[in-house]
Amino acid sequence: MANTLVVEKAKTSKIHEVDFDNLSFGSTYTDHMLVCDYVNGEWKAPKIVPYQPISLDPSAKIFHYGQSIFEGMKAYKDRDGGVWLFRPLENFKRLNKSAKRLAIPELPEAYFMEGLTTLLQLERDWVPQNPGSSLYVRPFMFASGTGFHASPADEYKFIIACAPSGAYFSGKVKVLIEETYSRAANGGVGYAKAGGNYAGQFYPTQLAVEKGYQQVIWTDDNNHEFIEEAGAMNVFVRINDTLITAPTNDRILDGVTRKSILDIAKSEGIATEVRKISVKEVVEAAKNGSLKELFGAGTAAVVSPIAAFGYQGVDYDLPELENSYASLLKQRITDIQYNRAEDKFGWRYKV
Ligand code: COI
Repeated sequence: MANTLVVEKAKTSKIHEVDFDNLSFGSTYTDHMLVCDYVNGEWKAPKIVPYQPISLDPSAKIFHYGQSIFEGMKAYKDRDGGVWLFRPLENFKRLNKSAKRLAIPELPEAYFMEGLTTLLQLERDWVPQNPGSSLYVRPFMFASGTGFHASPADEYKFIIACAPSGAYFSGKVKVLIEETYSRAANGGVGYAKAGGNYAGQFYPTQLAVEKGYQQVIWTDDNNHEFIEEAGAMNVFVRINDTLITAPTNDRILDGVTRKSILDIAKSEGIATEVRKISVKEVVEAAKNGSLKELFGAGTAAVVSPIAAFGYQGVDYDLPELENSYASLLKQRITDIQYNRAEDKFGWRYKV
């Protein structure tokens, strides 16, 4: 594959326009992108080209039937300038899992891995070194094939674009436990990283934002009885000294950060449980003081402590702990990601 990966370099670089000390999340893009086309029944060899707009026919099925999936990854720079990815094969596997569910043809592993590493080698100067910053990497795939017939497209594009980024959340995170809307249902696409899963959250999240919350914690579509995930991140609950998260299923994204946090917690001797968590249990624990922490975990969010949650018109504040699991686990995972500590799990991947 390496011999067939064509690289067309940008004539000028935009890197000097970027203020690396004040990066927002995902809003400035690097000089190049990887593009791979699916035509005539096969994925053609990827190309790296200057970052640019894409031209699509108005009847491209992405616009009408939403065949669109993505991944979220980060490239990290260590203090010696080395660039690292975190468990990239997990993202590749999940991309194809999402592709299958959306009737999109699966991508060959070499196209993903070699395309990704070649792109990152080219963009290595764009990987920020400042604490808390990284190069957010967004692989995505969508139906470029045309037609108003409601059936899978015959052409697709796979693209990787990158954005030097700072923190996803600014300030304290307050969440609303959802009682009306649902993110996903059994047999649906909730486990896939489908663009539509995010679009469907925007309206209920807007309502929550109007009430002063940043995120919604989704509950099961059946009776809104159990905590599921927060859309942009999986959710962890600490009751007394036990760390609990919901099991993945049809409705919950199999987060790479989620499973890494579980493994790290176990290796730190923290009691973990992967089981259904009822809203009632969380509210009661908040009332009796046994709810110690609530935090989100995701690639973009890393480990984001939740300061308060709202439910049925009441806000419950979480205590501010000095030695929280969230801060310990964030330290441990970022130490691996930024090559600051030994990686006993073998998760780091040199670019
Ligand atoms: C990520 O964490 O990378 C995601 O894809 C979530 C997205 C809402 C930013």
